[in-house]
Amino acid sequence: MDASVLTAPLIPPAPKVHPKPLGPELFGQLRVAWEMGRSLVGAYSEDDFENLVTPYVFMGSPGLVVSDPTAARQVLTSPNYLRPVKASRPLKPLVGEGLLLSEGETWRRQRKSLAPVFTPAATGGLLPHFVAAGAGLVEALAGQDRANLAQAFHHATLDAVLRALFSRRADAEGALLADLARRYMEGPAHFKLLDFVSRGADDLIFMDGDRRAMGRRWLHTVDALIAERRAHPHAQVRDMLDRLLAARDEEGAPLPDQEIRDQCSSMLAAGFETTSRLLFWAAYLLALDPATQTRVRAEVTAFPAQQVSSLDDLKAWPLLRSVLFETLRLYPAAPLIARAARGADTVMGCEVVPGCMITISPWLMHRHRKLWDAPTAFRPERFIDQAHPWGMEAFIPFGAGPRVCIGAGFALAEAQIVLASLLQRFQIGLDSDRPVLPKASITLGPDHEPVFALTPLNRAA
Ligand code: HEM
Repeated sequence: MDASVLTAPLIPPAPKVHPKPLGPELFGQLRVAWEMGRSLVGAYSEDDFENLVTPYVFMGSPGLVVSDPTAARQVLTSPNYLRPVKASRPLKPLVGEGLLLSEGETWRRQRKSLAPVFTPAATGGLLPHFVAAGAGLVEALAGQDRANLAQAFHHATLDAVLRALFSRRADAEGALLADLARRYMEGPAHFKLLDFVSRGADDLIFMDGDRRAMGRRWLHTVDALIAERRAHPHAQVRDMLDRLLAARDEEGAPLPDQEIRDQCSSMLAAGFETTSRLLFWAAYLLALDPATQTRVRAEVTAFPAQQVSSLDDLKAWPLLRSVLFETLRLYPAAPLIARAARGADTVMGCEVVPGCMITISPWLMHRHRKLWDAPTAFRPERFIDQAHPWGMEAFIPFGAGPRVCIGAGFALAEAQIVLASLLQRFQIGLDSDRPVLPKASITLGPDHEPVFALTPLNRAA
């Protein structure tokens, strides 16, 4: 066995866990609100990592935190539970009626017509875009011995998704789209106090001027792109827009332009920041664990990213893939999945009343003491023998049930290629010992963006 596997495992930084629950009295609830306002993973107590279900009342509304994998699946697969309406407010001006926010029959129809856009064959067709985005990242970092990789990955994942959607590069002909998307996701996409006091997605929208103005500019730009592609279609399918234009609904009719636009916007909103976070935490963990970094580098040097031409090629990197899974376990890019009950139910013996909020936290489930061995340790090997990590019941970084992430295969292929591109060119370390703590809002980001030290490796790699 490799000696590095035998050394003490890395326990990467995590926010403090409160020794006792913050309490149901008013002061305790205000503490919860304050901690969650700072970070959605900041209010958990020791009990939360031991209990598989916890009922609570918050500001008069009942809720359940569910960490039991079977019960979580019961909720995520049942039509009795919907995404909470309020959760859609920040993104609605950008993604309209696309897959991310639609419900009921509209959602079912959309998911079916989008299935061909996300088959393994379709994702395989996008690999050249991911290879180009990885090469762009390395080129942008060339000559630097210090870099803010959080920003670099943000740019690279935006570039990858714009290339995959529209064959546009974020720093060239797609620059306007990139700028609008980045500004929206960094500002209006985050929750504001208004979202908590409003009663629905379209309530108090007159106070949402920034979201609507920016959303309108985005939608207008995407409309123009669709019109241009209709006028000058590609001879062969090259990107997701080509596939959306070719998609047919159940009656065999093409999708309306507005729906195509909303689907493109949904993919961008759901896929760009999440994948950027995954890459950031993976790079951080590998910088903290140089022995694992060296072993991953051996894989990507033996089979460099620019040689990838099919999804099968990614099998050349089993450790890299396990590192990404272990990263998603320890730092799940989407740290919270929420549902609201429509009708009464019982979950693990707990009564669920209509309107009850169910919180399923990949952060909690992935670090739960009853569900994992050494839950806080970075041990990518735990995934290496798993033919399919989805068989690990307590691993839900992409959700579960019918609304499971449609872009999981896309995200994993992109992340593997971009990370491989970086590691084959640079050894990465950290410029400072200051621990980077996760801070959760829509995605799980860092509390500060650390400076990474880059050492260039042989350019032939
Ligand atoms: C590391 C990257 C990603 C993570 C961790 C992630 C996570 C998730 C999770 C947890 C959900 C389910 C939310 C729920 O049940 O409420 C979801 C849904 C979704 N994701 Fe992802 N995602 C990632 C990347 C992507 C990418 C790259 C795309 C598109 C290209 C994408 C598109 C979507 C869409 C459209 C949905 C809504 C699906 C539906 O409701 O039917 N995601 N994602």
